[in-house]
Amino acid sequence: MPDTSLVARLQRDAHAEIKCQDNLKFMRKLEDESMHLIVTSPPYNIGKEYEEKISQEKYIEEQAACIAEAVRVLHPKGSICWQVGNHVQNGEIFPLDIVLYTLFKNHRLQLRNRIVWTFGHGLHCQKRFSGRHETILWFTKSDEYTFNLDPVRIPSKYPEKKHFKGPNKGKLSSNPLGKNPSDVWDIPNVKSNHVEKADHPCQFPVGLVERLVLSLTNLGDSVLDPYIGVGSSAIAALKHHRNAYGCDLDKSYIDIAWERVHQLRAGELRTRPMNKPVYDPNTKEIE
Ligand SMILES: C[S@@+](CC[C@H](N)C(=O)[O-])C[C@H]1O[C@@H](n2cnc3c(N)ncnc32)[C@H](O)[C@@H]1O
Repeated sequence: MPDTSLVARLQRDAHAEIKCQDNLKFMRKLEDESMHLIVTSPPYNIGKEYEEKISQEKYIEEQAACIAEAVRVLHPKGSICWQVGNHVQNGEIFPLDIVLYTLFKNHRLQLRNRIVWTFGHGLHCQKRFSGRHETILWFTKSDEYTFNLDPVRIPSKYPEKKHFKGPNKGKLSSNPLGKNPSDVWDIPNVKSNHVEKADHPCQFPVGLVERLVLSLTNLGDSVLDPYIGVGSSAIAALKHHRNAYGCDLDKSYIDIAWERVHQLRAGELRTRPMNKPVYDPNTKEIE
């Protein structure tokens, strides 16, 4: 359990630096090895309202420059989580985790998980199966990295199950704190009826980032999102008393990000609870 006076102090002090700025410019002002978690979802170069479609070579070049700067500011015990889907060209898909993997390996980062994020809503495809997952590449800078499993455990399927033989016969066989959430995460994406929906076409669900913040950082650590949009990563970081850093090129997104930070600090921001099941058979509640 964290020291409650420390939590109270961090709640007041947790620092937010969120700017309308290009991410290279923003990151160049950050000190070497100062960020404990870099979590982001970059544009996919598919012509969304916040991006101009460019050649795939140029896109990879821009990603390489951003990743190089991110690696520079990453703490030796820190993690980078790059959340991506597919680039699509003439109906052919190019999964961006495959495309970008070598850019991280060029910096000798180590892949710890390729997390599959699955969700229920999206385009209904006519000439291929409808896409209902994206991925998160989780890399660390070294073998000695922060990983806290207990704060992100989820309820076990059979919590009452006991060992039926051996020295532990009669004792509970599963961890009373719950089980490892695995590398497949079923979390609703933020569509129009989602409680967190703001004026952005591709928001992170806050619960997805919370799981990364709680497992990959400690109280008072610093979390950076170089493509912060409407500030979902900052909300997840500040909610758990970590410092939040981030930037976006679009001023209207940054204004919303700050509004959400103020609402969080006033205790008025609604977010979907991190481990809320997608379908609860008792309440018949869906998402
Ligand atoms: C997929 S969205 C991220 C949304 C974010 N995860 C959220 O929850 O709101 C990508 C964002 O990157 C921003 N962006 C694109 N190029 C950028 C750059 N060079 N520097 C900073 N932000 C950039 C876009 O404006 C867009 O909001």
